[in-house]
Amino acid sequence: MATKPRILTGDTPTHTGLHLGHFVGSLENRLKLQDSYDCYFLIANVHAFTTLADKPADIRANTVGIVKDWLAVGLDPDRSTFVLQSEIPAIAELTFLFAMLIPFKKVMRNPTIKTELATKFGMELGELFGSEGEGKSREGPSFGFPMYAVGQCADILAFRPELVPVGEDQEAHIEMCRDVALKFNQMYCGVNNRVPAEEHAKAGGVFPIPQAKVGRIARLVGLDGVQKMSKSLGNAIFLYDSAKDVQKKINKITTGRQSPTEPGDANNILMQYVDAFVARERAEELKRRYAAGDNIGDGHVKAELGEAINALLEPMRVRRAKLDGPEGDAIVMDVIRRGVKKGNLVAEETLRLAKEGMGLGFGSRRFTAD
Ligand code: TRP
Repeated sequence: MATKPRILTGDTPTHTGLHLGHFVGSLENRLKLQDSYDCYFLIANVHAFTTLADKPADIRANTVGIVKDWLAVGLDPDRSTFVLQSEIPAIAELTFLFAMLIPFKKVMRNPTIKTELATKFGMELGELFGSEGEGKSREGPSFGFPMYAVGQCADILAFRPELVPVGEDQEAHIEMCRDVALKFNQMYCGVNNRVPAEEHAKAGGVFPIPQAKVGRIARLVGLDGVQKMSKSLGNAIFLYDSAKDVQKKINKITTGRQSPTEPGDANNILMQYVDAFVARERAEELKRRYAAGDNIGDGHVKAELGEAINALLEPMRVRRAKLDGPEGDAIVMDVIRRGVKKGNLVAEETLRLAKEGMGLGFGSRRFTAD
């Protein structure tokens, strides 16, 4: 229905291997929002080139992999639109136009860019700007790397969404996107700078000012009980682990608790998982009894937890197995084709409105020889 408010969110195909942290941090949110919103899920395959420019085959494989992941998790291409970034030209055009609305310093000081500069390139900001010094200069990231933050504003605003469900690591990007939208509406659509963000669209702005929506559990602890669940730290339960492997991983969790009658820590790793994956009422009961040492052993909790997680994952495993079969790639290509078609309708309309606002509306763009 055209009257539903829109959502845009996305993933970068730099890796495969979804785990429970991804699920509670964002995927679950998307699943729930599919009914009440007109959802656009973007595969940011162009952004993947910021770190994998020399590995196009990996990016392509991961792109197909992400679509399979989404389908397996239960995102539904009949209700939601899967959009492939590289096939939406309006995003590239808006990126360039928006780049002129964001101060250079602001892009470079974006906290997510700063963190990624450290984690992905082992560099500090100073090294990018400082004098080269003693001939030991390293090349560092491409120009396109910080540019992707501007690109993300375009990814979002091309679809004029109200909500952007993301992990907490993305909040700085959403903040920048809001700034761009506010500035655009004020500069080019005559929206007064006293109009509050929520009323920008009503006041004539091309862009509604989107809001971030972080998942139910922003940081799911890994199996080590200390660090965030992450593939590279080797502390993850993957969505496609076999039922047996899931139970095995859970059984290896250690809490240091000695007996079922010892009062347990209601915030330890097991109880955090109970909170995340066991049905609300039962989770509360388990936590209460665990904290009181009311005859609930770690072994019992682990068995119940394993069952709950496996019940969640089983339908995903079944769908994923089908997609890994011979007809899987054709299904993916069809989903991409449909999404690109629908996505371009929205994004082209946004671009038209934006260009008109900027005085760049020189008529329709049709490349026919006449
Ligand atoms: N940068 C996001 C990530 O790595 C992926 C992404 C690209 C995105 N464009 C987006 C997320 C637009 C939300 C909205 O996770």
